[in-house]
Amino acid sequence: MPRTALTQSVEFMDCWTDGISNQLARDVFVGLTSKQKTIPSKYFYDSRGSKLFEEICRLPEYYVTRVEMALLKDRAHRIMRYFHQGDLVELGSGANWKIRMLIDALDEKARVRTRYVPVDVSETAILESVNELVDLYPELSVMIVVADFTRDLRRLPNDGPKLMLFLGSTIGNMNTEESVSFLTSVAQCLVPGDRFLLGLDMVKPPKILEAAYDDAKGITADFNRNMLHVVNRELDANFSPDHFDHLAFFNEEEEQVEMHLKANRRMRVDISDIDLTATFEKGETILTEISRKFTRESAQSMIEQSGLEVAQWHQDPKGWFALADLCRAD
Ligand code: SAH
Ligand code: AVI
Repeated sequence: MPRTALTQSVEFMDCWTDGISNQLARDVFVGLTSKQKTIPSKYFYDSRGSKLFEEICRLPEYYVTRVEMALLKDRAHRIMRYFHQGDLVELGSGANWKIRMLIDALDEKARVRTRYVPVDVSETAILESVNELVDLYPELSVMIVVADFTRDLRRLPNDGPKLMLFLGSTIGNMNTEESVSFLTSVAQCLVPGDRFLLGLDMVKPPKILEAAYDDAKGITADFNRNMLHVVNRELDANFSPDHFDHLAFFNEEEEQVEMHLKANRRMRVDISDIDLTATFEKGETILTEISRKFTRESAQSMIEQSGLEVAQWHQDPKGWFALADLCRAD
């Protein structure tokens, strides 16, 4: 008998796919008519983009995944000590490698009473990885949610004890204002006894940071350019991705890595579905991602402003990555 036969149930909810083109159209119009052209980083993750991100996670230069996984493995029992049943709601779950470390720390009795709720805009990333997960843990229930966590938090199941998770330092892809507003919404989903585990990548020497976002094999460059393929396909545009160079650097003042696509010639690009012709000077850039790096102080300030408080703070011996185990501050 296949092991999946034991899986208690797999439910599915999609709040995203129907609306994606409209939202992308608005975001691209606003972004490409701004002084600093920009396209939000959530549009990296079509099926190809999610696969490229998984490749990034395996690169020697991209320490983020390795260090966070080791920390999770080391602290899993301490983190899960308070969780005996309910929902594990993982925002931006991607390939869901990390949740496995925490599920492994639960005993069989708790697993039967647990529902895993992965929330991601990338339907392919969720579906492929959930198949593996139910094979590994047939006693677990699963509710797949394809949704935008910046918009759809209210629509997530919220009817029992839960541990919410936001790993990988995806919080760093939001600016200060966006991150406080997002974390405030997360705090409003928590009731006494609920926890929220937040992954934070810490400030470290620029050389290490810049290598992590500009790897020797050029996978991050492909990931960056993938956004132009998404816009071409979804909005009938004619970007030539080769006409843009990948640029990644650490902005020390803002404490953030910035990824840009830099035009390597003067050009015009038609984005038919939004009736826009964007013009680019040689050297002009599209900002595609910020990846903020935190200090204990900057993280603490963001957490406090969002109505959350630190129950436990975990970090690796070098202080490269932190897991903030949070609860509601009132
Ligand atoms: N948590 C995983 C994946 C991080 S990559 C890890 O730590 O490795 C970021 C993930 O968030 C991707 O899977 C991407 O599809 C998803 N994502 C990005 N913006 C999103 C949004 N606004 N709403 C939902 N998912 C989003
Ligand atoms: C998903 N996010 C936290 C990654 C990061 O490190 O900011 C995305 C990424 N961009 C380039 N490499 C990885």
